[in-house]
Amino acid sequence: MKGLLLGIVSLCLFVSKPALSGDIDAGEARYAQNCGNCHGPGGMGLASYPKIKGKEIPYLIDRLKTYRAGTKIGPNSDLMIMMAMPLSDAEIANLAAYLNAQK
Ligand code: HEC
Repeated sequence: MKGLLLGIVSLCLFVSKPALSGDIDAGEARYAQNCGNCHGPGGMGLASYPKIKGKEIPYLIDRLKTYRAGTKIGPNSDLMIMMAMPLSDAEIANLAAYLNAQK
């Protein structure tokens, strides 16, 4: 009975996850290439580099596209603009899905 209940609960958790357009695994692989050098393991933030894990997907996509377009947001945007320039739309969606999934 307990096992069945747990099964139902985890099924609900699984089903209630928002539909993600990005691929979390691909996002993790892309993140590992260089993002972690500044943002730390799993986007937890490092020294003066902002924490980016667990943020909403539309927010992350918007930030990355803003940097990619060369637009400054904060005082250190130049660093991030350089990093975002080569990203494709798919890479941005994957990165956003991965970072959002890190709680
Ligand atoms: C050289 C260090 C560095 C690297 C590498 C780097 N970032 Fe950043 N990132 C920054 C800095 C610094 C900021 C804050 C920039 C500002 O002041 O606008 C930032 C900001 C961001 C933000 C916005 C945070 C917020 O809440 O406003 C996101 C999202 C982000 N980075 C994602 C990434 C991803 C994804 C990668 C890998 C493709 C990456 N970063 C690689 C330094 C870096």
